Amino acid sequence: MRNAFAVRCERLSKRYGDVTAVDRLSLTVRRGECFGLLGPNGAGKTTTIEILEGLLTPDEGEVEVLGLRWPTDAPELRQRLGIQLQETRLAEKLTVEETLRLFRAFYHRGRAVDELLRLVELDGKRASWVGTLSGGQRQRLAVACALAGAPDLLFLDEPTTGLDPQSRRQLWGVLERFRAGGGTVVLTTHYMDEAEALCDRVAVVDGGRVIALGTPQELIETLGQRKAVTRHGTLEDVFMTLTGRHLRDD
Ligand SMILES: Nc1ncnc2c1ncn2[C@@H]1O[C@H](COP(=O)(O)OP(=O)(O)OP(=O)(O)O)[C@@H](O)[C@H]1O
Ligand SMILES: [Mg+2]
Repeated sequence: MRNAFAVRCERLSKRYGDVTAVDRLSLTVRRGECFGLLGPNGAGKTTTIEILEGLLTPDEGEVEVLGLRWPTDAPELRQRLGIQLQETRLAEKLTVEETLRLFRAFYHRGRAVDELLRLVELDGKRASWVGTLSGGQRQRLAVACALAGAPDLLFLDEPTTGLDPQSRRQLWGVLERFRAGGGTVVLTTHYMDEAEALCDRVAVVDGGRVIALGTPQELIETLGQRKAVTRHGTLEDVFMTLTGRHLRDD
């Protein structure tokens, strides 16, 4: 039943010189699921997600997305995926509306530009140049661009980093509605409360490997059994226990 999976990857590896960014990483994402990739800076989240998006080629391993493969099925995959990169560079001298029209034009099917503007509450900025938007507004525009083709599967790399609490909650609402329509989401985040609120399952990645996998509740309960702190355990406790306290950017 290969169609039960939106993403299936097995023993993915990607090396940059001496650095092994992704180290024999395997995971599956079910259709309709919201799946979170968690991990400290440099853990390999972006590299993994960019392999799944067909932007990077792995040194080893197998990837299947929506039952299709890169690069053979690239044209179909490009139509069915929505992608928000960790650092989105949009053209500064296009307006918000022009940017969305451009993205909409890439897809055979998709959402109306007015609907996209309403979705991320940027109607008021329709005629503004992208270069004049605040960081949070740009981030929301990037998510609207990712939704322009009405994708089956949405990849979001730190979609809420830099957003104020209002915009963050608003984006959570956008994702919940996307999922209610049957969409699958793979996201990365450094906010454990966000992972708990949004994700059906999460993988904690460190050193390019999956070191824990399960529902947020399962991970919290596992930690609780280990440390006998079930009552106040949070996903952040789990994360810190698994990944330690040292900073990664040495
Ligand atoms: N193009 C590249 N050239 C060399 N090294 C790279 C390249 N891309 C990533 N790396 C290295 O691979 C490792 C994984 O990086 P990656 O960006 O996937 O981490 P991440 O989990 O997304 O981190 P963050 O939370 O900071 O976004 C890091 O050590 C990084 O320095
Ligand atoms: Mg990253």
